[in-house]
Amino acid sequence: MLSCCLVDKVAFHLDSKAMPDTMRITMNTTTDQTTESSAAGSQSTHFGYETVSGAEKVQRVMGVFSSVASQYDVMNDLMSGGMHRLWKRRMFSVAAIGAGSRVLDVAAGSGDVAIGLSKKMGPSGRVVLTDLNGPMLAEGARRVIDAGLLPGRADCIQSDGTRLAFADNSFDCVTIAFGIRNFLDIEAGLAEFYRVLKPGGQFMCLEFSRPVLPLLDVIYDAYSFNMIPLIGEKVTGDRDSYQYLVESIRRFPDQGRFEKLISGAGFDLVRHENMTGGIVALHRGYKI
Ligand SMILES: C[S@@+](CC[C@H](N)C(=O)[O-])C[C@H]1O[C@@H](n2cnc3c(N)ncnc32)[C@H](O)[C@@H]1O
Repeated sequence: MLSCCLVDKVAFHLDSKAMPDTMRITMNTTTDQTTESSAAGSQSTHFGYETVSGAEKVQRVMGVFSSVASQYDVMNDLMSGGMHRLWKRRMFSVAAIGAGSRVLDVAAGSGDVAIGLSKKMGPSGRVVLTDLNGPMLAEGARRVIDAGLLPGRADCIQSDGTRLAFADNSFDCVTIAFGIRNFLDIEAGLAEFYRVLKPGGQFMCLEFSRPVLPLLDVIYDAYSFNMIPLIGEKVTGDRDSYQYLVESIRRFPDQGRFEKLISGAGFDLVRHENMTGGIVALHRGYKI
């Protein structure tokens, strides 16, 4: 029945401040929220290497993820050679959560992070998956159902990471993996993560970053600009979405600049650890 709800485009409804004991899947598969999602919509920004208006960026990012949603997991494994599982595993191991914790996974996509964190919390924990994109969140909901997180251990709520539909001080841990570089306003997203985190809570962000080992940047550039769009084209028929992926990674602030943005949002004890020579970095901060 829940899968039916996903396909049938249930109405958008946000009542996430009081979470009931059954899992909710609250989706808006119209584009209304997407088009409204930023007051900065008319200002110019970047979509990969192109300059576009803010509104166009949001629409095109949503187009990318709607296009890749059904093959997102297989492409993740192919492009990273399965490495994304190890990067995420490290995130789970340092997550400051346990029995009874409440976690928000922003830009949850197909739900890997939410499911991994849920295992660490056990049956009394609760994870909320949120994503702006309906088809991606639908993949996450299917995976959450398959993982047996029903009833009562997960919610899927469609929402923009820069305008989260949750009360202040709601979560013990807020996570985002490979999502924030797609945001129109990264600082607005970080401010929202800080707002919804409880005092003492932990923020973690896994994101592509800058290689720090000699020659790795050359090899990584050659692989990502030549191979990733090609693999995307062969597997999904959509080269452009994977070209955007590669370009968006290069546009994202490096480890040091991103750490400053995290501190600027109010987080303390901000640090990062490089993984795979800095291709990916795991950032952490706390709301003290
Ligand atoms: C590369 S996927 C990452 C999915 C998942 N976290 C993972 O690690 O596999 C990026 C996700 O960010 C979501 N996204 C992009 N912009 C967003 C926004 N403003 N608010 C919430 N989610 C957003 C996309 O819909 C997509 O599901």
